Amino acid sequence: PIITDQLCVKGVLPPHALPPFQCCPPPPSTSSASGPINFTFPDPAEPLRTRRPVHVVGAEYMAKYARAVALMKALPQSDPRSFYQQANIHCAYCTGAHRQLGYPELGIQIHFSWLFFPFHRAYLYFFERIAAKLLGDPAFALPIWSWDVPEGMGIPEVFTDEASPLYDPIREPSHAPPKVADLDFSYRLEKNLTDEQQILHNLRVMYKQMISGAALPSLFMGQPYRAGDAAKPGAGTVELAPHNSMHTWTGDNSRPNAENMGVYYSAGRDPLFYPHHGNIDRLWECWRRIATGNRTHEDFTDPDWLDSSFLLYDEEARLVRITVRDVLRTEKLRYTYGGVGLPWLHARP
Ligand code: C2O
Repeated sequence: PIITDQLCVKGVLPPHALPPFQCCPPPPSTSSASGPINFTFPDPAEPLRTRRPVHVVGAEYMAKYARAVALMKALPQSDPRSFYQQANIHCAYCTGAHRQLGYPELGIQIHFSWLFFPFHRAYLYFFERIAAKLLGDPAFALPIWSWDVPEGMGIPEVFTDEASPLYDPIREPSHAPPKVADLDFSYRLEKNLTDEQQILHNLRVMYKQMISGAALPSLFMGQPYRAGDAAKPGAGTVELAPHNSMHTWTGDNSRPNAENMGVYYSAGRDPLFYPHHGNIDRLWECWRRIATGNRTHEDFTDPDWLDSSFLLYDEEARLVRITVRDVLRTEKLRYTYGGVGLPWLHARP
């Protein structure tokens, strides 16, 4: 398995990157230098958080998410729960800054492999709990950007209010609402479809990525990535599109790296990143529930996948080691998804 070492070095950023250029977490304070603690499940009596789409939860709920982001932005940059450090964590895990335990020459890259879904689930789990703690609302659930259903196929308005903590000035201006998203967008290649054509196209993309092209776990989740392996063995269907494509579609296409959302190192700086990944995480749950023909969709059972582990900070700012095995059941993590259907389920082209 790939075990994340605490050792973090300066990762590799693309040319023309925007500051900050270094994304390792702050060194542990001497009082807490005891190393990471192992993950434990939340109390089963905790309220079950239900993550629902931005277009369903309403303005008052979105104001709560905005407040959570504002509170995270107000924490000192040295606090691992600050928005600054949360964005940096994503940067560290995608620029090879963290090392593989036992392979100090190998940086970890959690994209383009079978670690893609579980890493982001663990990362969002702690982000959501940090938000809930700062809000003093133990049932707070992250809103999700459900770009796979027609009502969610565009940047939600609330993220474009310049006065809101949810606003990010570094996005593609021509993709502001009411522009319909292109779920398999390629950098700078506009399809120029009518809204209706684009929506139909998007539903077909979903069908292909979730059903016809994703019968096996390796096709859906990505290729095996084991201790000592080089990074990026291969991405799964949904990681390529809509995941990567919606990152690129959202980021500023006039920049060589399409910041912020369009490139790994800076994507977490946009508050839209987290609802985007909420939807990706929801699609993992959807995929597991879809049975086609006489075949059901099952996760990998390979111990190299199950025992891979990441280091993340919890809502008390403690460093936690969490494994892939820990994140397989959302109910055990005390959250679920609601308020959204699967309009692409029969969108066979
Ligand atoms: Cu870790 Cu959406 O990228």
